Amino acid sequence: EAGRFILGLETSCDETSAAVLKDGKEILSNVISSQIATHQRFGGVVPEIASRKHMENITGVVDSALEEAGIGWDDLTAIAVTSGPGLVGALLVGVAYAKGAAMARKLPLVGVHHIEGHIYANLLTERELSFPLLCLVVSGGHTHLVRLLEHGRLEIIGSTRDDAGGEAFDKVARALGLGYPGGPLIEKLAREGTIDAYDLPRAWLEDSYDFSFSGLKSAVLNLLNRAKQRGEEIDKAGLAASFQEAVVDVLVQKTCRAARESDAATVLLAGGVAANGYLRDRLREALGADGRRLVVPPLILCTDNAAMIACAGYHRLMRGETAAVDLNAVADWPL
Ligand code: KG4
Ligand code: ZN
Repeated sequence: EAGRFILGLETSCDETSAAVLKDGKEILSNVISSQIATHQRFGGVVPEIASRKHMENITGVVDSALEEAGIGWDDLTAIAVTSGPGLVGALLVGVAYAKGAAMARKLPLVGVHHIEGHIYANLLTERELSFPLLCLVVSGGHTHLVRLLEHGRLEIIGSTRDDAGGEAFDKVARALGLGYPGGPLIEKLAREGTIDAYDLPRAWLEDSYDFSFSGLKSAVLNLLNRAKQRGEEIDKAGLAASFQEAVVDVLVQKTCRAARESDAATVLLAGGVAANGYLRDRLREALGADGRRLVVPPLILCTDNAAMIACAGYHRLMRGETAAVDLNAVADWPL
């Protein structure tokens, strides 16, 4: 049947990834070719370079995914591809490849929402999850609190009004001269500092599940500029720890309140920032104190990968949500 061996493709940002998923849950392969080294010298992702790299990499990545899975093109039963949101030129490489392959092989094609993919990484981790669920999604481009009422019924109850959580990590890391991507570097440096080294602001946005991180980011940048002008030393590790604490504090408190008000016994964490150990620990502790459980995907399934896309694609396929040959890349597809 169509769900047996799904080829997943992900090219929305700076990882070219292909995966083979068996029966919607068993990862036979999940090949990820990262372009981080290429973009590092520019301090961030350069869209046109990303597209060109995807173009160079995609055939080899798909071949490796099939080889690792121990299957051939003839065994595939469907193709799922990220069709948005993301960098449009990057998305187009995956979408065009998937359409060509689906047509040539006469396979069903599924277009998957990137954030839905991040959320479904949790279903590869825990097979038995009962609705309603709440998911905190924090990546380089998104920060959302999402209620999952059932498969295919997702409801966004809060979003960032400015910077995404990962974006704040990346910008502060850049200001601290740490490099790109900033999240893991801040997390590492923060381990050597104390969370009360600097008093940084938190945007609570009372009575709302929305987030705002630009004020916090500006506060850090201003603090750095002032110190530079005055020739004062900065406790970089302390600043990294205080910044991380300010982000995590807001994420944890809002997620706990949303879980309570959504009556979700289980909370999921998704997106690149879910790789942050401090966030995982703090969130697990706070939810636990409230009698709730946190599910977090393993690190490799937190950042961009095609296995999560294949998993979300499987569930769309089961609902009959296949795409036609006019499937297009949508840069700003709302969840
Ligand atoms: O989901 P992802 O791989 O790509 C997007 O869809 O955006 O997320 C990348 C983001 C980057 O902003 C990166 O700095 C952040 O996730 N990130 C982290 C950590 N690992 C990755 N942020 C904080 N702590 C980490 N350990
Ligand atoms: Zn992502």
